[in-house]
Amino acid sequence: MRSFLGRDILSLKDFERHEFERVFDVAEELRPFAENRQNTDLLTEKTLVTAFYQPSTRTRLAHEAAMHRLGGHVTGFSDPKMTRAGDFYQESIKDTVKMLEYYGDVIVMRHFQQGAPHEAAKWASIPIINGGDGWGEHPTQILTDLYTVYREKGYLDGLRWLAVGDMRMRTMHSLAYGLTQFDCPITFVSPPDMSLTDEFKAELEQYSLNFKEAEHVEQAIADADVILVEPVVQPDYTKARDERAGDIGLTPANYKITRQLLTTKAKSDAILLHSLPRMDEIPPDVDITRWSRYWQEAFNGVVMRMALLALVLGAME
Ligand code: CP
Repeated sequence: MRSFLGRDILSLKDFERHEFERVFDVAEELRPFAENRQNTDLLTEKTLVTAFYQPSTRTRLAHEAAMHRLGGHVTGFSDPKMTRAGDFYQESIKDTVKMLEYYGDVIVMRHFQQGAPHEAAKWASIPIINGGDGWGEHPTQILTDLYTVYREKGYLDGLRWLAVGDMRMRTMHSLAYGLTQFDCPITFVSPPDMSLTDEFKAELEQYSLNFKEAEHVEQAIADADVILVEPVVQPDYTKARDERAGDIGLTPANYKITRQLLTTKAKSDAILLHSLPRMDEIPPDVDITRWSRYWQEAFNGVVMRMALLALVLGAME
């Protein structure tokens, strides 16, 4: 197996099946610290640098919380406007990471430009973790989601997935790449103008992913063991910041998971994931149904980042 030490986590396209399994094993090992709200001293000598060029609640703070749980340190920025990358200078990724690499031992980067973390990895001598790049990928979120399913179900092979939302979304790309390593058929449901591109579908076919598309969640929900939802009413992920302006509209029924739909059509043991934030695609009254797992997913997000930080920084092999 390739070592995780010093490795960039940029995409799930280059993740092999046994590497998923290794990350899950390390997450299980470190999980008790988070469950017991304890910090350990695994990474006392290490510092995480956060470089967030786009808003985030979960990804940045889960990485920071994970680093604290492991006894490490955190520095960085969450508002690029207050850095030289966001003012008159428009400092390049190269020049920025050539500085940041001296301030810590690993960088987690979110950027509105697809490929920005890959560009950072070209220049940095320390690992870069992709915290979401434009419409590109969001590998740590989907590692979290796969780990959540693995914990809830005990296995991944044979589970049928339903993915609902905007297929331009970075999580959807990482999900599709991730599932190529498992025996998991998936149905994608999205508005026509947010569907998988022909180019991406051709790539998934090359990887032998067993996938199909449907127009309405009602056509696919009855077969699903895992339902993963993202918004279709959402900002432009290629912008540094997209303010809400005027009427943003509501989610059409085709892309909405309601309590009634779950009760009447879903398998009784299906699980429902959402990386959050949400709009109206999962109404709050679904939260207390037996299907919802998004709060467990949020907790697992800290555990997964603990595993990744421990692995790329060499505290776990
Ligand atoms: N799921 C996720 O990426 O959330 P944030 O945008 O809050 O980081």
